[in-house]
Formats: sequence, structure tokens, C-alpha cells
Amino acid sequence: MKRPLEDLRISVTDRCNFRCTYCMPLDEYPWISRDQILTFEEIARTAGVFAGLGVKKLRITGGEPLVRKGLPELVAQLAAIPGIEDIALTTNASRLVELAQPLKDAGLKRLTISIDSLQPDRFRQITQRADLQPVLDGIESAREAGFGQLKFNAVVERGVNEDEILDLAEFARANGDEMRFIEFMDVGNANSWTSEKLVSQREILKVLRSRYELIERDGRGSRPSQDYSFADGRGGVGVIASVTEPFCGACSRVRLTADGQVVTCLFADVGADLKGRLRSGESDEQLSEFVTDIWQKRADRYSETRLIQMNSPSGYTPQNRKKIEMISLGG
Ligand code: GTP
Ligand code: 5AD
Ligand code: SF4
Ligand code: SF4
Repeated sequence: MKRPLEDLRISVTDRCNFRCTYCMPLDEYPWISRDQILTFEEIARTAGVFAGLGVKKLRITGGEPLVRKGLPELVAQLAAIPGIEDIALTTNASRLVELAQPLKDAGLKRLTISIDSLQPDRFRQITQRADLQPVLDGIESAREAGFGQLKFNAVVERGVNEDEILDLAEFARANGDEMRFIEFMDVGNANSWTSEKLVSQREILKVLRSRYELIERDGRGSRPSQDYSFADGRGGVGVIASVTEPFCGACSRVRLTADGQVVTCLFADVGADLKGRLRSGESDEQLSEFVTDIWQKRADRYSETRLIQMNSPSGYTPQNRKKIEMISLGG
């Protein structure tokens, strides 16, 4: 295979108890029907096929993965797959008070928590329906459950939360955790992205450097985040600059949607149907061939093309192309 296939992101549901304006602002959406959602057994079998092709890292996503009932059971099944070295989960933390310990006990290794504001009113405005306090309590439960260093994600949007960059960095740093700032992306079609709302990596770093001395860590390899340490060694910070500094060339991720589609790019308009094959009785070997073929043919470079268009006289119009929503893809 020309690119290594290292990282499988598994969306376990397209539902979410939040409605973040930058992700899924709509109340209603053509949600996946229950009978189309992969069972835990189907997910674990698929993950096993990917592990056979070299995948070592799994990340469980959603929607909000913790709204799926019995998730620790899935984690336990995934942790038992030979070759899987790392299982992480991206969550909004609202259900971690009940679930942090069971997830840890089941074998989950790492947690990434989305938090875009530390101001209760603003937090509600961004999420449209959530309170900040249960999220802060969930974060505390994650610490108590022994997850070690946590990672936080904040999407930075101009006019929304760019004035909280320093507060968020300090919030994570105070506990030795890592804060990552994500450039607002035009993923999906529902979030009314415009380049005016984008706060670039350059600006984010400028704000951070106004207070902290940052030390750039080693090259990001195939990871989306450029990471920095603070000069005093406490905590860390990263920037995910997929708009202004795309990293398509190094992209080694593949996504499995909750209804069993294999998607190679965050900006794809369709996936390849694996569920049909799973349910029609194909062997692991046949599934493996199917995935290998998709991976060998992939030529995605959406973010690189977007940057070229953004810098051209005619500019970039995100509405020109229909894309799968982030809530179905899991980021
Ligand atoms: P680790 O490296 O395992 O810590 O995970 P990660 O950095 O992939 O973390 P996470 O899943 O939280 O990714 C952070 C965010 O970066 C995602 O939610 C996306 O918004 C963005 N992102 C991740 N992967 C890609 C990618 O392949 N392409 C683009 N354009 N953005 C990505
Ligand atoms: N731009 C950038 N990041 C986004 N996320 C969701 N929508 C967007 C967007 N439009 C992030 C969330 C979460 C991760 C799964 O994806 O903040 O941390
Ligand atoms: Fe839900 Fe996460 Fe999307 Fe917010 S960013 S709507 S918490 S899936
Ligand atoms: Fe990978 Fe697509 Fe993101 Fe480029 S835009 S890094 S190809 S997921």
C-alpha cells in the first residue's frame, strides 16, 4: 500500500445530546435508523479486519459516542483484538460522571474532550442545549478514573470564543493536560462556514505566545496536531491547522460510520458500503480485500485543494460540494 493505514476512527452513533453550531446546528436531521447501525459484534469484527491490515490505533467517535448504550462492552471487545495497541475516545464529557470508570476498566486508554468555552452562557450558546457544569464534573471524573493526561479540543471561531484562547490553555495546563485548538473547518454542509470565521494557526499561536514561551515538539508525522510544550514543562498545547496548513499527504486515517460505510476523507460526499458485505456473509478475507482496494485507490487531498482555491482570485465556495456531516463521520 502506498500510504500506511494506521488509524481507524469508529463512529458508534450519529446522535448527540449537544447541537454545537460549528458541527450540527440542526434540530432534526435524517438520522440513521436503528437497524442500519452496526452492532458491537459487527464493529469488533470490522476492527479485527483493519487490525489485520496494520491498524494499531482505534478512536471511538460519534456523534457523541457516550449516548450509545453499553459502550464499555464495545471497548472491552476492541481491547481484546490482537494488534490493537491504543484505544481512544473523543467525547463532549457530559456523561463521563457515570462512564469514566467503566470505560477505563474496560480498557480505554485515552480520552479527548471537546470544550470550546469556560463561560456557562457562552457554552450554552455554542452547544445550543448543554450546561457547562456536568462537563466540568465529567472531566473531574476522568481524572479520578486515572486516565492520566487528558487532551482537550476547542474549535476557535471568530466572534465566538477567540478571546478564550489563553483561558482554555491555562485550564488544561493547570492540571498538566493538553489543549488543542482547531481551525474552524467547512466540514459538512450545515455549519455556515465562511473564511471570515476562521481563526488561523498563526493568530492562535500569536495569542499563546503573548503569554507563554512555547517549544515546538517534533514534527507531527501523520497526526493533525502541531504540538508545543510550555517552557516550564507544565501541560501542552497543539494547533490543528487543517485549513491553513493542510496535512493530506500524511493522512493515514480511515473512518467507519455508524452504519458501516468506510470513508477515507473528512470531506467526502459518500462512503463505501461495508455493512452490506458484513451482513451478506462475506469472509474476513473478502472484507480485507475490499478495504485494501479502497485504501490503494484513495487520492484524497481536499484540504490542500481548498487552500489553493482560497488563495486564488475566484476564491473558495464550500457550498459547491455536498459533504457528509461531521456528526456522521466523527471528525
Ligand atoms: P490522537 O493523535 O490520537 O491524539 O488523535 P487526534 O489528534 O486525531 O485527535 P482527534 O480525533 O480529537 O482529532 C482532532 C480533530 O482534528 C478532529 O476532530 C478533526 O477536527 C481534526 N482532524 C482529525 N483528523 C483529521 C483529518 O484527517 N483531516 C482533517 N482535515 N482534520 C482532521
Ligand atoms: N471544524 C473543526 N472542528 C470541528 N469539530 C466538529 N466540527 C468541527 C468543525 N466544523 C471537532 C469537535 C470535536 C471533534 C470531534 O471535531 O470539536 O472535538
Ligand atoms: Fe455533538 Fe461533538 Fe458535534 Fe458538538 S462537536 S454537536 S458535541 S458531535
Ligand atoms: Fe485526510 Fe481529507 Fe483531511 Fe486531507 S482533508 S487530511 S485527505 S481527511
